[in-house]
Amino acid sequence: MPPRDIIIDTDPGQDDAAAILLALGSPDEINVLGITAVAGNVPLVLTQKNARIVCELAGKTNVPVFAGCDAPLVRKLVTAEHVHGKTGLDGPALPDPDMPLQDQHGVDFIIETLRARPAETVTLCPLGPLTNIATALQRAPDIAERIQEIVLMGGAYFEVGNITPAAEFNIYVDPEAADIVFKSGVNTTIMPLDVTHKVLVTLKRIDALRAQATPVCDAMADMVDFFERFDTDKYGSDGAPLHDPCVTAYLIKPELFSGRFINVEIETLSELTLGMTVADWWGVTDRAPNAMFMGDVDAQGFFDLLTERLARL
Ligand code: RIB
Ligand code: CA
Repeated sequence: MPPRDIIIDTDPGQDDAAAILLALGSPDEINVLGITAVAGNVPLVLTQKNARIVCELAGKTNVPVFAGCDAPLVRKLVTAEHVHGKTGLDGPALPDPDMPLQDQHGVDFIIETLRARPAETVTLCPLGPLTNIATALQRAPDIAERIQEIVLMGGAYFEVGNITPAAEFNIYVDPEAADIVFKSGVNTTIMPLDVTHKVLVTLKRIDALRAQATPVCDAMADMVDFFERFDTDKYGSDGAPLHDPCVTAYLIKPELFSGRFINVEIETLSELTLGMTVADWWGVTDRAPNAMFMGDVDAQGFFDLLTERLARL
C-alpha cells in the first residue's frame, strides 16, 4: 500500500513535535506533503519556527513549512505558555532553524494542494485550533469533497475540559472554526482527551525513549520532562498525556484505537460551556452522526510504536 499523503496543521507544542516526528519517522505509511502552522499553544511567530525546528531535528528539511492564521476567526487568541513554556518547545536546547519558512500562506497551500491532487487522496491532520482548516473551507468550499479524511486532536466527552471545565484547548481557542469543520460533511476522525488521557508518558516510557540514545529520542524525552509537570501537578497522574501523536499513530496503526461514529456538535454561544464538544456517545438524539469519536487506545502499543519510529530518525 502506498504511503498516505497528509498535511499536518499544528501549533508546536511538545506533543505536536511528537506527532510530527512520528510521521516523519514513518515514510512507508505517511508522506508529509507540508506542515502548516497555526496560532495556538504559542503565537504563530513561534509555532512556525517550532515546526521548522522539529523538521531540522528529524533531518527532514525538505518538508515545506508554512505560516497560517495568527488569530482565531472571531475571538482573541488564547495561548498555553503555562503548559508548553514561553518558546512553546521548552525542554531541550534546540538551535534556531536554518530552513526557510515558505512564502505562501498556509491556508493557500492547503487549498492549492487539495485542488491539484486527485480527489480524496490527501488527509488533513489538525493538531491545534482549527482556524486554518475552517478558513480554507470558507475560502474554497469546493475542497470539502476533495479531502480524503480529517484526523484531528481535539474535544472531549467523558474527560470533559482541560482549559475550562467544559472545553478542550484546541476547540476552545477557536470554537467557530471547529463548528465549521464539524459541519463540513468531511469524513472526520477525532482523537479527544478521552483517548489522549490514556497515553501517559510514565517514567518507564521516558526511560525507553532515552534508552534509544539518539538525538531525536533524547530531545523528545527532554520535551516530555518539561511538558509533563503541568499535567502531573494538575491531575496527579503518572505522567503527561501525549495528545497529538495519537493522530499520526492512527494513520500508521488504526487498530490501536476504538470509538463510535456519532454526532458531535460544538458549543459556540454559551460563555459557560464555550468550545464544548457535545458528543452524542449514547445516541440519545436524532442528530445525524458526523464523526468517528475515539474512546479507547492500546497505550503500550502506542508507546512501542512511537519509540520505535522516533529511534529511526
Ligand atoms: O488539549 C490538548 C491540545 O492542545 C494539544 O494539541 C496540545 O498541543 C494543545 O494544542
Ligand atoms: Ca497541538
